[in-house]
Amino acid sequence: MNAPLTLDARQRAMLAEMGVRVWQPKPPAPPPETARTAAVNAPEKIASFQDSTWDKTQKHSKNLPPDSTPQAAPPAAGPRPQDVALMDWPALQAAVAGCQACGLCAGRTHTVFGVGSRQAEWMVVGEAPGEQEDRQGQPFVGQAGKLLDRMLAAIGLTRADDADPAKKPAGVYIANVLKCRPPGNRNPQPEEIARCEPYLRRQVALLRPKIILALGRFAVQTLLQTTEPIGRLRGRVHLYEDVPVIVSYHPAYLLRALPEKAKAWEDLCLALATRENIEGV
Ligand code: URA
Repeated sequence: MNAPLTLDARQRAMLAEMGVRVWQPKPPAPPPETARTAAVNAPEKIASFQDSTWDKTQKHSKNLPPDSTPQAAPPAAGPRPQDVALMDWPALQAAVAGCQACGLCAGRTHTVFGVGSRQAEWMVVGEAPGEQEDRQGQPFVGQAGKLLDRMLAAIGLTRADDADPAKKPAGVYIANVLKCRPPGNRNPQPEEIARCEPYLRRQVALLRPKIILALGRFAVQTLLQTTEPIGRLRGRVHLYEDVPVIVSYHPAYLLRALPEKAKAWEDLCLALATRENIEGV
């Protein structure tokens, strides 16, 4: 059975911080029926969104125009995908740190491998490092990352790498499709995605998350191997390597598009409901 989702005072406070006002709690609807067909089942209804300070600061060029889609590319000066597929965490991290499989290696300060507990049951997949992430070698540390942290906190998750999966806040592992920053935060190119994708695939295989939250067009289209826009993919449960995938908007986009935050909250609720529904499976 799907346990009803109730928000405690802390979660409500976090939602308020996210700019989300929750009203009229509803009993939970039935869980998603099957992968790929489930409808949005947000247990709480979002009434409206409030302006907040972090909405006004961010300008982000990524994530919207439908110009490129993932395509296969042959391996270049990086490890072969079949070798990556056998790596353990240290080998994988070292391979990423030394990767020269595409031109992005020339401009990077740091590779951005991923962060969070390797025991996490939740995985977030974003797009690519930005300027701050390239500087610090950590994903989602800029303004979009701060919003992401608030969104995750609102559903009881933390990126702390020592988080106990059995306790709240539970751990989440965060990684990007690309491990190196595209210059000027331009969109990832199909060939860059293709060359980096074996690393993400191996991260998923090693982590074996129970649920993946795919944020933004490039994460979504890479994982699901589709060209469909997010608007047509969200609200259902998809699969990547047998792991349920929930699709949502990129936090950088949410910083510019306030009304979409209501949809992002619905997506988080669907992710929570899905995760609770597969508990013990
Ligand atoms: N946007 C992303 O998709 N990933 C990051 O790490 C930072 C910004």
